[in-house]
Amino acid sequence: MKNGASTFAQGVDLSLYIISGISIFFLVAITAVMIYFVIRYNKKRNPKATNIEGNNTLEVLWTVIPTILVLVMFYYGWMGYKPMRNVPADAIPVKVYGQMWKFSFEYANGKLSDSLVVPVDKPVKLFLISKDVNHSFYIPAFRLKEDLIPGKNNFLWFEANKAGKYDVMCAEYCGQLHSAMLTSVNVVDVKAYEKWLSDSTSAANEHPGLTLMKKNACFSCHTQDGSKLVGPSFKGVFGRTELVDTDGSEHEIVVNEEYIKRSVKTPNADVVKGYMKGLMVPYDKILTDEQIDQIIEYLKTVK
Ligand code: CUA
Repeated sequence: MKNGASTFAQGVDLSLYIISGISIFFLVAITAVMIYFVIRYNKKRNPKATNIEGNNTLEVLWTVIPTILVLVMFYYGWMGYKPMRNVPADAIPVKVYGQMWKFSFEYANGKLSDSLVVPVDKPVKLFLISKDVNHSFYIPAFRLKEDLIPGKNNFLWFEANKAGKYDVMCAEYCGQLHSAMLTSVNVVDVKAYEKWLSDSTSAANEHPGLTLMKKNACFSCHTQDGSKLVGPSFKGVFGRTELVDTDGSEHEIVVNEEYIKRSVKTPNADVVKGYMKGLMVPYDKILTDEQIDQIIEYLKTVK
């Protein structure tokens, strides 16, 4: 197995090796004894069965030894887990948002990012927030995983001790594009981290509607280049005529301000033919009317 890249990795790996070692030992030992008994006590070699009644030594042995072994497994598991719940006071706070189907990260200075960037050898605390359904935040290289449950404030912390780029994935099946939640954590030196954190030029010249759409993961389901995902593409969407399904009856509509607004607030009211109902959550409580207007203005420019 690849060496871990966080301070937790050693403890987690140790308990994994101990549990696997004990399991493999007993798998081999029990199978060997079983095969031996089948041969030694088959009808040819042992024509007359013996009735054995009780053996106190054996009873005590096979109670005490397994008890000690499971306590050993528990001890190493617990020692690996305990430090994960004790967050250092100086840990860098980062909010992690999970939604269908994207992880996004918000830093204390307001910086938003699609991937996690952290300094090496510094503790980082992640606040795990789900915007819709259950997700699970998983960094295999750090040996870390925790669920994002709507309405529950879960957290994680870690200290990355090896610079590099590692996979971050969602480990809870959360719908059709669950696998699209794949992103990364980039562990860099402190200087590079601070430079990255203070650099916000990329968002400055961006259309506010586009920023909002990125933040709300619209592009997980809708492309801007005409290709089809689980939702219709935004390419040339404004002014387009679409055949929609309204409660089972089909009719044509022209995509205008009113239709986009309705589709954002109540996405299942008029679903474009050929797409599935119920995949998009209503955004009427997430986006304000002004924000939706900004999105509409941006969509007009996607040709
Ligand atoms: Cu989010 Cu699977």
